[in-house]
Amino acid sequence: MQRERVAVVVGTRPEAIKLAPVVRALRDEGDVEAVVVSTGQHRQMLDQVFSRFGLQPDVELSLMQPNQTLAGLTSRALSTMDEALAEMSPRLLIVQGDTTTAFAAALSAFYRRVPVAHVEAGLRSGDLRNPYPEEANRRLASVLTELHFAPTWLSQQNLLDEGVSPDRVLVTGNTVVDALHTLLEVPCSFEGTPIEGVPLDGSRLMVVTSHRRESWGEDLQNICLALLDIVERHPDVRVVYPVHLNPNVGGTVRRLLEGVDRIHLTEPLDYLTFVNLLRRSDFILTDSGGVQEEAPTLGKPLLLLRAVTERPEAFALGLARIVGTHREDIVQEAERLLSDSRAYNRMAGTPNPYGDGRASERIALALGRWIRGESPLLHPSEQLGPAAQPPVVGRSPQIPA
Ligand code: UD1
Ligand code: UDP
Repeated sequence: MQRERVAVVVGTRPEAIKLAPVVRALRDEGDVEAVVVSTGQHRQMLDQVFSRFGLQPDVELSLMQPNQTLAGLTSRALSTMDEALAEMSPRLLIVQGDTTTAFAAALSAFYRRVPVAHVEAGLRSGDLRNPYPEEANRRLASVLTELHFAPTWLSQQNLLDEGVSPDRVLVTGNTVVDALHTLLEVPCSFEGTPIEGVPLDGSRLMVVTSHRRESWGEDLQNICLALLDIVERHPDVRVVYPVHLNPNVGGTVRRLLEGVDRIHLTEPLDYLTFVNLLRRSDFILTDSGGVQEEAPTLGKPLLLLRAVTERPEAFALGLARIVGTHREDIVQEAERLLSDSRAYNRMAGTPNPYGDGRASERIALALGRWIRGESPLLHPSEQLGPAAQPPVVGRSPQIPA
């Protein structure tokens, strides 16, 4: 029997990390031909993930331009995806998350009447401008989607509240947990990596990442100034900060932090090295989406450098806190973790509310059934168990005014 072709689109680092296990599961399932399409929205950061997971794009659109604009990238992605879809004629297109790649690919599939499956569907911050433009991208993708793979019960509920039919929303867990699990078996070593030269013995380690567009400028400066305050007041603390390749980020970060004692700026780290760094860390300061989902698997407290989150589950469980981007608030919350072991231990728990490592398996199973016209796509008992979900999750916690 001719296998049906399913196209999987990736453009950025987090999409590649989160879709690598899906591609693997689809290929293991054997019912479909999984074709990987790279928009190349990112270049170096995407290649890093491809080589880590041994993934080769079958179609490469090479879209990245230095300091690209949202509109420029979106229009290039829309037209080149249209040509790629015309050539491939896939039965279905898989997109992931909330990037320009995900939104533009979903729109081009819709124009070509190719059904869309959205991985990591239904996350909502409730604030269209925050994260920017990701909240809008994710909502727009939902409108164009046929099959919604919601990572949590809350994200499923968000979609049902918007009128999506329940038989089209499946709760799978987040595939980032699958990706992370594949690396946890590998022994932790920094030999031959940019972390090799960082003297970690006897130091307390904070890992920092930050790249959000809504933080460029003053907020990012505040974050950097807070890091300066923290290392100055705590001589046993070191910061490792892998700097995102977006020039709007690197410019500010290097100007304020380059050469500062006990603050180590690195290039973007290979995923395994970064995960090992998180494992070795005491706690994490970040505005990243994926890192919010990884921290609870590793039992690391997380302080979120944003005003709002679309991933509130770990916050409701007390494993993470929103600290925003004010210098004093960041310093205060970091110092609480550095000085109060009870507060620290309360935030260092598991389980991970974002998944159990089997999300990709569920997605491949459901897609196989969808292609064969079977129903239901997943029985309730085949979806993510409710055990890991927080009992009561408030919508989109915000920093106190
Ligand atoms: C993008 C996503 C964001 C995601 C982030 C993950 C959008 C609108 N933004 O943000 O949702 O959280 O990726 O990292 O989709 N660059 C390089 N090399 C790379 C990657 C980026 O040089 O490997 C530089 C280029 O100058 C590029 C710029 O960064 O033009 C911006 O890249 P872009 O993908 O547009 O936005 P990000 O800020 O990376
Ligand atoms: N990550 C990585 N190397 C780094 C920093 C992050 O591999 O130097 C991983 C991280 O573990 C997570 C993903 O990249 O899985 C998050 O990417 P990013 O923060 O760029 O995007 P977001 O998740 O915010 O969309």
